[in-house]
Amino acid sequence: MKIDKSLSDLIKEQVKLEKEIAKKFSTLEQRVDSVAAKLLIREMQLDTKKHAEILEAALEAIGGPKSFWDYTIHIDADKRAVKKELEEHIKAEETMMSQIGEEARKTDDEALKLLLNHFAEDEKRHHKNLETIVNKAYKMEI
Ligand SMILES: [Fe+2]
Ligand SMILES: [Fe+2]
Repeated sequence: MKIDKSLSDLIKEQVKLEKEIAKKFSTLEQRVDSVAAKLLIREMQLDTKKHAEILEAALEAIGGPKSFWDYTIHIDADKRAVKKELEEHIKAEETMMSQIGEEARKTDDEALKLLLNHFAEDEKRHHKNLETIVNKAYKMEI
């Protein structure tokens, strides 16, 4: 990856903004008076913190000579064992997806349904992420 100062600057600005917003959400959460509003705000607050943390970590690799997949960190771990563990996580995500689906079918509460649907989307993404990791970095046969 080419050194892209302006990308780094943009990301730094975004991290700052995400952190400010996360703080504001946590105050706002205490000022809203319904459980649904509180939970939805908390969810956004955690998303915002997540964005800040991931972008901060990405900043360390940006500007390096390699792309993120090629930029490897020396780790003392058995690749085969890690692959097996990743595959176990894929199964766990499947279990969570069906669990959440079942919960969403059992509730008539609109806000809870909405939150559960967000989580189902998250789990789908987690599942795909794990598959991407296995396919991109753990292609070898066990
Ligand atoms: Fe964000
Ligand atoms: Fe998950």
